[in-house]
Amino acid sequence: MSKTILIATQKPFSADAKAQATAILEEAGYQVRVLESYEDEADLLAAVTEADALIVRSDEIHTGVLDAAKSLKLVVRAGAGYDSIDTDAAKERGVAVMNTPGQNANAVAELVFGMLVFSARGQFDGKPGTELMGKRLGIHALGNVGKNVLRVAKGFGMEVSAHDPFLSDDQIRAAGATPVGSVEELYAGSDVLSLHIPATDETKGSIGKALLTSMPEGAVLVNTARAEVIDEAGLVEALKERTDLRYLTDIAPSDETDAALQELGKRYYRTPKKMGAQTEEANTNAATAGARQIIAFFEKGERPNVVND
Ligand code: 3PG
Repeated sequence: MSKTILIATQKPFSADAKAQATAILEEAGYQVRVLESYEDEADLLAAVTEADALIVRSDEIHTGVLDAAKSLKLVVRAGAGYDSIDTDAAKERGVAVMNTPGQNANAVAELVFGMLVFSARGQFDGKPGTELMGKRLGIHALGNVGKNVLRVAKGFGMEVSAHDPFLSDDQIRAAGATPVGSVEELYAGSDVLSLHIPATDETKGSIGKALLTSMPEGAVLVNTARAEVIDEAGLVEALKERTDLRYLTDIAPSDETDAALQELGKRYYRTPKKMGAQTEEANTNAATAGARQIIAFFEKGERPNVVND
């Protein structure tokens, strides 16, 4: 019997991304089901029962979903961060979890600069703003997104430094940035700080008041990573104390923090929805990479980008 692949995306892929991923999977002989824009988790629980593999975005794949998916062997997170998936519980149930690293990285990097220019120009209020050229950019974690931010920053003529605990100084230099030995040093020396750390037990709540208030006069923190890595109380305190700091993000903090930050006017900007990866290109890249990874897994026994081995 042919395998069933469920594309389960609360936030739908573009039509073209979905069509291309479906075509790749159908060509390989699989049946494709699509559940998108679902509001009730019961719909997801019902849809997963027949699925051999899932393609998801930020959809929460917890034990309840895994237990409902009796035939499930593989979950592909079409994206980078897999903090919305209980990878240990999946492993216990013999379910592999993959991501598709790098496929949406350029989209996120372009949004970083979109928000930076928008903010530096007073949200396009027509008054004199500031430029990015010559400013010191610190990249916190030089993975796929960080490297794309670095590439675009060079075009803006920024001075780029980076800190990444998983890379050597030589690797950071080879990528084109100046290595900085500690997080503290990075924040203290960056006019613009672009955050690209994943949300893990170690990183959650790790960016707080001390780091933010150590930043230079007029500094800006851009967060296209995860809301959870911010110590929200510390962020609010830092921005109240330092009336020159700015915070830009595409991931909404809690309603309470959001309300407190909204009082700061243009020093705080968040997009109405999470949208770093929301381009047609990124959707297509991630969805088709996911489809190919599923075929490699079932047909060749390969395990590309498995994150829970
Ligand atoms: C990622 O981790 O790849 C990004 O946060 C994109 O998430 P999304 O697929 O929910 O837009």
